[in-house]
Amino acid sequence: MDVISVIRTKRDRGELTPEQIDWVIDAYTRGDVADEQMSALAMAILLNGMNRTEIARWTAAMIASGERMSFEALSRPTTDKHSTGGVGDKITLPLAPLVAACGAAVPQLSGRGLGHTGGTLDKLESIPGWRAHLTGEEMRHVLDTTGAVICAAGDGLAPADKKLYALRDVTGTVEAIPLIASSIMSKKIAEGTGALVLDVKVGSGAFMKTIEDARELASTMVALGTDSGVRTVALLTDMSTPLGLTAGNALEVRESVEVLAGGGPQDVVDLTLALAREMLDAAGLKDADPEKALADGSAMDVWRRMISAQGGDPDATLPTAREQHVVTAPSSGVLTRLDAYDVGVAAWRLGAGRARKEDPVQAGAGVELHAKPGDTVTEGQPLMTLHTDTPEKFDYALTALPGAYDIAPAGTSFAPLPVVRERIA
Ligand code: URA
Repeated sequence: MDVISVIRTKRDRGELTPEQIDWVIDAYTRGDVADEQMSALAMAILLNGMNRTEIARWTAAMIASGERMSFEALSRPTTDKHSTGGVGDKITLPLAPLVAACGAAVPQLSGRGLGHTGGTLDKLESIPGWRAHLTGEEMRHVLDTTGAVICAAGDGLAPADKKLYALRDVTGTVEAIPLIASSIMSKKIAEGTGALVLDVKVGSGAFMKTIEDARELASTMVALGTDSGVRTVALLTDMSTPLGLTAGNALEVRESVEVLAGGGPQDVVDLTLALAREMLDAAGLKDADPEKALADGSAMDVWRRMISAQGGDPDATLPTAREQHVVTAPSSGVLTRLDAYDVGVAAWRLGAGRARKEDPVQAGAGVELHAKPGDTVTEGQPLMTLHTDTPEKFDYALTALPGAYDIAPAGTSFAPLPVVRERIA
């Protein structure tokens, strides 16, 4: 087998054989295929695609590059959620303890933010003392004793994907549906969850900008999960505007705690409950009542135990940024658009996100929204507050915002998109 013939097959729109796929993933993981050769193959896949048979084999080869976890010894059924990433997407934080409070076990292996989308681990690390890196034994212990664990994936899980994802990130090949589907599903199948709910974001702040692309990604991932024995469902959810009223690490933790306390923005509550119902249903816990668990404080109790079990202090004051800048409404009327991507870029530039994997993030940085699409605004009222420890970043962040919103004359009718747009099973 040689790598040039594999690249040529895909360059010329051919179908990769199972042997070619197994070989190239294994050789790349071992370092026998060079980054520039894998980049050429990734670009050929982005341009020419892979069929379902190729994607299934590619996913299996990435799973086989590392270890597989198993939670079969647990007394509760396992169920997990994966979001394809968005702006203000803090849903994992209230969702994992909520689903655990309803009787399931939630093993959440999460990632860090890259680019304009935030990462769950970065958010939780704004809680003083909280640790993302756990040994396998510690992870099992937290899961066993609290019902939920959110931590970093160990190096042994799908190492082929770790290497390939870093390469795709710097070669303009992230947005290939076969590569996104196999990347996400290899990690989730290797993680060993019994059931999985995929939150496939669609809109300006998501990888998938159109509903058609989101459908294709969702149905590819649902087929991969189902064929591997994982009960898998996908919800296509709106990411044309940020979720909730905050984008930024500590800001999003604060909002998540508000949801666990029975308050919080309605879109965050609605999506948390919709995903919780799907996760519980897929785990066979059809009679569970997540709305009650949110209202009666039992989800909050699990949150507090889960944060403490990983060294965090659930009562600690969250960090705040040193400087604020308020953006005001330039006119009066109805806010008809508030763009997720632009707000995400502003939050990222303020220090909430990173440009390279090894960059630090600011815990307090981000954007706080004071109005959402559909709200009536008055000229001069605050539209959003920008937070950062490095005020020299305000100007750069502000250049992302002039085209970020539209204000229409008062009385203009406005029909918001539903948070959950479609379900694919
Ligand atoms: N998230 C992943 O884990 N992989 C991708 O390719 C894209 C998003």
